[in-house]
Amino acid sequence: MAEQYIESAVTDPETAEHLSRIAAVRDRLKAAGRVGDAAPKYFIQTFGCQQNEADSERLAGLCAAMGYVKTDRPEDAELILVNTCAVREHAEKKALSIIGNYKHIKDKNPAAVIGVGGCMVTQKARADKLKGSYPYVSFTFDTGAVDRVPALLDAALAGGRREFVLSEEWKIAEGIPIRRASKHMAWLSIMYGCNNFCSYCIVPYVRGRERSRSAEAILDEARALIDDGARDITLLGQNVNSYDGGPYDGRRVDIADLLHRISALEGDFRLRFMTSHPKDASDRLIEAMATEDKVVKHFHLPVQAGSDEILRRMNRKYTAEKYLETAEKIRAAVPDVSLTSDIIVGFPGETEEDFEATLAMMRVARYDMVYSFIYSPRAGTPAAAMPDQVPREVASARMERLLALGAEIADERNARFLGRTLRVLVEDVSKNEPDKLTARGDPVRPIHFAGPPSLIGQFVHVRITEAKTYCLEGEVVE
Ligand code: SAH
Ligand code: SF4
Ligand code: F3S
Repeated sequence: MAEQYIESAVTDPETAEHLSRIAAVRDRLKAAGRVGDAAPKYFIQTFGCQQNEADSERLAGLCAAMGYVKTDRPEDAELILVNTCAVREHAEKKALSIIGNYKHIKDKNPAAVIGVGGCMVTQKARADKLKGSYPYVSFTFDTGAVDRVPALLDAALAGGRREFVLSEEWKIAEGIPIRRASKHMAWLSIMYGCNNFCSYCIVPYVRGRERSRSAEAILDEARALIDDGARDITLLGQNVNSYDGGPYDGRRVDIADLLHRISALEGDFRLRFMTSHPKDASDRLIEAMATEDKVVKHFHLPVQAGSDEILRRMNRKYTAEKYLETAEKIRAAVPDVSLTSDIIVGFPGETEEDFEATLAMMRVARYDMVYSFIYSPRAGTPAAAMPDQVPREVASARMERLLALGAEIADERNARFLGRTLRVLVEDVSKNEPDKLTARGDPVRPIHFAGPPSLIGQFVHVRITEAKTYCLEGEVVE
């Protein structure tokens, strides 16, 4: 897939200094004759959420700026960067096992440099583990230190000490080059970090406190993206509802303003945002979705649980009733909205009755899609120390019931698109059916239909002919 390369203006002197080391690496490679066809290759392995995917696009931008070229085969790479996640135990285990495998690559090619970043190594215990038990890892960098990678790499190439960076301060690093995985669909980070401290969640500890990018930087990036061919832009943040872009044109910019202002930019594109914390999904935000044609009618509003007692112990700061009030407001303003949610099963102390309240919530909220997770204790979070941890078998059995109900409701929600003609953005060739294309629009499920690859990156009208649980089938109409 095509890649693109967008650089925004550097604003922070410290970041500018870190980025100046790009040239040092470049010079080093040049001196060794490693340019053009002989350029070394980089490989990036990404775990976790969209924030990490967006960070990996920054890592790719840095690699390219330093003179590396991309490979999809880690065994061919001379620079391997692993971007880790810590949200559940499974994510950490997977990352550690992959990093373990890279030892063979280092054995075969001692000149290869392996660096590990992301949420897992933002925890001191994990950074220490890599330092102690994975001697072939040259450096780790926390989620606030992506801009330091050139300096870390430069030091590693010079044969310096191994470094394990844990930032004391969490700033916003503007000006990091970005190499996006897709030309047509783009992540646009609008804020970093989280202040909510849901009792089960590691994110606030590994992403730091909330900090919003300036509206100006975001608008500049959006404009550049659109000029460069982006047709589907997703504004990213752990809780975009608390975006605070400070004053711009004389008033404080919130997420609703941002949607209005980006929508007002010239061009044919669609706009998404995620994630919204239900406690502060504002009327202004709902109105922006209702009134702006470019804003996709999809609201991701994670409920996590349906029982008030569990919600209280999760520190979610809303009740089931309050949540449903918000959901109803959204449905009233945007009748055709696709509502989706995250749900945790088996939170400490969850009784059968609590779990049934979650199922009841699903029946009322009628989600187009639910991302469901079995609770995973995270060291250092309040919930990990709570009594009555739910046995794995109980949680798994509940999960099966939740998945069955989720699929039943999703089927019913998908069916509403049958026979309708939708304007959709052609994303790519379908992975499972190579003679078909896959597209996205208002439905949260991908849309498959026959058509030539030349349509990729274009909007087309597709009539939906079949609604399945996980995708919609259709045909192009003129
Ligand atoms: N900021 C976003 C998402 C953060 S993580 C939000 O608040 O919606 C994505 C999802 O992972 C969460 O919504 C939650 O459902 C799940 N999650 C977070 N911590 C978890 C844990 N310890 N165990 C299981 N699931 C978890
Ligand atoms: Fe985690 Fe809650 Fe913040 Fe989401 S809002 S990232 S679930 S602490
Ligand atoms: Fe995302 Fe995982 Fe970090 S979900 S914020 S990459 S812990």
